[in-house]
Parts: sequence; structure tokens; C-alpha cells
Amino acid sequence: MSLDETADRPLDRLATHLAADMDAVNALIRRRMASDHAPRIPQVTAHLVEAGGKRIRPMLTLAAARLCGYGGPYHVHLAATVEFIHTATLLHDDVVDESAQRRGRPTANLLWDNKSSVLVGDYLFSRSFQLMVETGSLRVLDILANASATIAEGEVLQLSAAQDLATTEAVYLRVIRGKTAALFAAATEVGGVIAGAPEDQVRALNAYGDALGIAFQIVDDLLDYGIAGDGIGKNLGDDFRERKLTLPVIRAVARATPEERAFWVRTIEKGDQGAGDLQEALRLLDRHGALETTRADALAWAAKARDVLGGLPDHPLREMLDDLASYVVERIN
Ligand code: IPE
Ligand code: IPE
Ligand code: MG
Ligand code: MG
Repeated sequence: MSLDETADRPLDRLATHLAADMDAVNALIRRRMASDHAPRIPQVTAHLVEAGGKRIRPMLTLAAARLCGYGGPYHVHLAATVEFIHTATLLHDDVVDESAQRRGRPTANLLWDNKSSVLVGDYLFSRSFQLMVETGSLRVLDILANASATIAEGEVLQLSAAQDLATTEAVYLRVIRGKTAALFAAATEVGGVIAGAPEDQVRALNAYGDALGIAFQIVDDLLDYGIAGDGIGKNLGDDFRERKLTLPVIRAVARATPEERAFWVRTIEKGDQGAGDLQEALRLLDRHGALETTRADALAWAAKARDVLGGLPDHPLREMLDDLASYVVERIN
């Protein structure tokens, strides 16, 4: 299935509805990603930002704020903040994962080097904090600062769980909640907070982002095994090569025969991988239904996200957030 033909529609509807706000966000991003003093910065940021990206997180912030009736200017700053944090983590993540492709382009670490990616990532992080300070809200600072720390914790926890065949599903959940869902949850939560929404709505927005982010990362981990064919703009098989214990692998390892276990020990624990091993890994995932049950988990998290929307005001944007939860898992239908 091509991603453009079907599954992108809910995202497009959201983008259309939020077009004026998103134009302001993109203009702010472009202004703030520049630097007069270090030309390498705009080179690297332009490479990444001009490649697009789905802009899911900033749209979540805008949607949450508008849904809660916000009429001020600061949702734009917050949306740009969230996208900057995201972009910074991608720059760092591609160094950590030694990835070669991002947003359909060669990664910055490949085109320039690891040093540039790390430092420009730091620059974007700092720019994100400048942007959120401009809102004048200590509470949104608290939420986004916590999310940034949690993302880093998730990435570090993943690092220590990699290559470890004893990694449990609980550890996997902690990793993805940290590295991915924390920013989704913060993105929606700060939209509600800046709008001055009642606490129960702020909690619902956080819970929606959390469940959506978890579903999103589970799907990303399935896509890494190529289950939707090509067209994701990233290389397939990165997780296997990086010896990551994602949910499908955790499940296949749990059901492995002694010979299969020897395969996982060799490829994941010892890192001794050769031609055909990714194919063999896929065969084992399939054999134990690990892709199917993982997909079921993604669907369940998306359903949970849709469920909590009931606590939010009746609004066309609420329907779009509902559709977005479906879209995120439709990518693997
Ligand atoms: C990529 O996120 C990182 C993950 C959490 C899997 P996106 O898929 O939202 O990345 P872009 O911004 O659209 O490129
Ligand atoms: C997502 O992790 C990156 C962060 C949320 C920091 P992955 O490493 O799984 O994402 P991709 O596949 O590189 O986008
Ligand atoms: Mg990665
Ligand atoms: Mg990673």
C-alpha cells in the first residue's frame, strides 16, 4: 500500500483545518532554525526541515489548543517547540542508530558527520527552550522539560536493553513510552494547558498523546521489518542490525525453539549477522505470529487513544484526532 494514497488522509484533513496556524508554525521554525554565526547550523537544519516530515506533533499541539477554545498566539510557539525537540532527537537518534536515511534523504550524520548532528541537535534543543520561555507559562515549561528528560531516559534505557535477549515486554513499553510517547503526550497536554482547559481535559489530552505515541512507535517498529513494503523514507532492518529488542522480536524469542534461540543469540546477542539473517528473522517473527500479535497491540493502544477523546469537547478537531489514531495504525494494514 502506498502511504500517500490512503492512509495520509486524516493527517491531510488535520493539516487543512489547521493550515493558517501551521503556516505560522513553519515560518517560526524557519526563522528560529537559522544562525548568523555558524553556517553549518542552517545547512543541517534546512536539509532536515525542508525534507518535510509529517509534522504530527505540532499539529497535535495546535489541535489540542484550538479544541479547548484557545484564541491567543502561543500555541504556535509551543507547536514549534515540540517540532524542534522532535527534530533534535532525530538528529541524535540517527547518530546513535547509525542510520543512513531519514525523511527519504541521506541522514545528516552521513552527509556531514556525527559531530555536526550532535551539536546541531543541541542547538535545536536550546532553541526549543527559548521558544517555550516566550509563552511565559511555567507550567508548559515544566511539562516540556520533563518530556525532554524522559525522551533521553527512554533512548538510554533502550541502549542498555539492546542485545539483551532477556528484555521483557515491560521494559520495551517503558522504552517507547519514554522515547516517543512522552513527546506526543506533552504536545497534546501543553495545547490544553495554554488554553486554560479544565484539569480533566488536560489529563485526557495527556492520555490521548501517550496512547497515540505508544501505538505510533509499535507501528514504527513493525515498519522496520518492512511489513508495509517500501516508502517509509527510512532504511528497513535498522532495528535488527542495531540488535534492538522490539516487541516482535521479544515475542519470537519467548516462543523460540532451541535452534531458533541459537539464531537470536548469534545475531542479536553476539551481533554476528550475515546475508540472509534479516530474512530468517522475518521468517521466525512470522512463524510465531509475532507480527500479528504486535499489530493487535498497536490497534489496542489506538483504540485506547480514541476512547479517552470522549472526555474532550465535541468539536470537528476531536473527530480528526479520532481519525488520526486510526491513521497511525492503518499504516500497517
Ligand atoms: C519518527 O517520527 C520518530 C519516531 C518516533 C518513530 P515521525 O515519523 O513523526 O517523523 P517525521 O517527523 O514525520 O519525519
Ligand atoms: C525514535 O526511535 C526516535 C526518538 C523518538 C528519539 P527510533 O530509532 O525507533 O525511530 P526511527 O525509526 O529512527 O525514526
Ligand atoms: Mg532510529
Ligand atoms: Mg533509535
